[in-house]
Amino acid sequence: MNNDPNTKVSAPTLPREGRGGQSARGNFATRLGIVLATAGSAVGLGNIWRFPVETGEHGGAAFILIYLLCVIFLGVPMMTAEFIIGRRAHTDIASAYQQLAPRQPWFLTGYAGMLCVTLILSYYSVVAGWVLKYAVDAASGSLAGVSDTASYFTAFSTSTWSPLLFALAFLLLTHVIIVRGVQNGIERFSKLLMPILLLIMLLLAVGSMTMPGAAAGVEFLLKPDFSKIDSSVVLSALGQAFFSLSIAIGCLSTYASYFKPDVPLMKTAANVVGIDTAVAILSGFIIFPAVFSVQDVSPDAGPGLVFVTLPQIFNSLFSGIPALGYVFSLLFYILLVLAALTSTISMHEEVTAFFVDRYSTSRRRAATYMTLTTIVLAALCSLSFGPLSDFRPFFGRGFFDAFNDVTALWIMPLSGIVLSIFVGWRLPKSLVIEELTNHHTLRYPDWLFHGFFFLIRWVAPIAISFIFLNELLS
Ligand code: PHE
Repeated sequence: MNNDPNTKVSAPTLPREGRGGQSARGNFATRLGIVLATAGSAVGLGNIWRFPVETGEHGGAAFILIYLLCVIFLGVPMMTAEFIIGRRAHTDIASAYQQLAPRQPWFLTGYAGMLCVTLILSYYSVVAGWVLKYAVDAASGSLAGVSDTASYFTAFSTSTWSPLLFALAFLLLTHVIIVRGVQNGIERFSKLLMPILLLIMLLLAVGSMTMPGAAAGVEFLLKPDFSKIDSSVVLSALGQAFFSLSIAIGCLSTYASYFKPDVPLMKTAANVVGIDTAVAILSGFIIFPAVFSVQDVSPDAGPGLVFVTLPQIFNSLFSGIPALGYVFSLLFYILLVLAALTSTISMHEEVTAFFVDRYSTSRRRAATYMTLTTIVLAALCSLSFGPLSDFRPFFGRGFFDAFNDVTALWIMPLSGIVLSIFVGWRLPKSLVIEELTNHHTLRYPDWLFHGFFFLIRWVAPIAISFIFLNELLS
């Protein structure tokens, strides 16, 4: 519990804020734990599954270049802005907006954020379940014997029970870690899982780059073809940056509410963005050299890349040395499981924290509400590939697609606009500077503040509005 009076907000606090719930909340204990837990939220299927798909479909190096500009100039300031809200208010996301702007409708963004993570967690755990299934199959050796990987994937993902049970297993795994608490659960597991994840990635990237013909894949990633850059590349890069950094929907604010007062927010955001981006690019270096070393596979294979194309590549590349193929594919799917898990934890924690802080509920009970809700929604998402595939109640979309669309196309961009306006214009500038400098104990050059305010006041809301409208009208 944090008793430092400086971290309290000068605005009047809500009567409910702090009721018992404060003692149930925790703090991250170490700086390393903070960076790794937050990077764990960011690093996920978005980096290892979605990033290579987007890169493959949008021309490789040119996409990566635009992506880098997005994460540096929008990712870092937006993440810092979320940290400011969370650490200043020291409570869940809905209460945080209420506390910082009492009796004004800003708090609705907090509720929208919680709805958003609930929906994302529901469809994300279905994909995470698929990954878990592939890890299990890779371990048992059955994946290596599959010759038609496309039919294998379709047969599994459209069946009723198997994908459902794997999604359930994933949610229960998340639940168990959340119930253990901030330090004993989230921080401890992130400190354990993230280094393992980085190590596996390095091993796989080295393995992939030494495959015959891998150089073409490396070139695809490093040599930009500027003629490929058009508005759709820019839009996809920005959307990918937001999803990958878990920005704007409250996960990062919730984690920041567990930061200690001496944590440098801007530096932490830069570190997390750096790790997340490194992991995304590294997964490009795992996937594309392997893709290019198999003649008849194209890099723009789309979402099936990880579930259809890669197993096929693993099998054909290592047909001479099956043991190596076994280790390579097992490590790859374990990597995906770990990355997904550290992200699902952060989504789950946002809503769990809300029940704990708002209603003084025990952590176990709060987590149970969230887990049960997501189990029901995830089941609907999973079934929408199989028995419910003809049930499309949302403008012709099934559950999985509708949840994906409403979060990525609507809630995330709109919350991003509100977040940047809130921190850039609504919060007193002095408060923002206090948080950035940890109450004037940190010294930064002036251009950094000017840069931060310029990006958060002007660039972020305008760029995101542009994307939002463009997606909407397309
Ligand atoms: N950033 C995560 C990933 O890359 C996904 C995520 C989105 C996590 C939103 C939390 C909130 O997979």
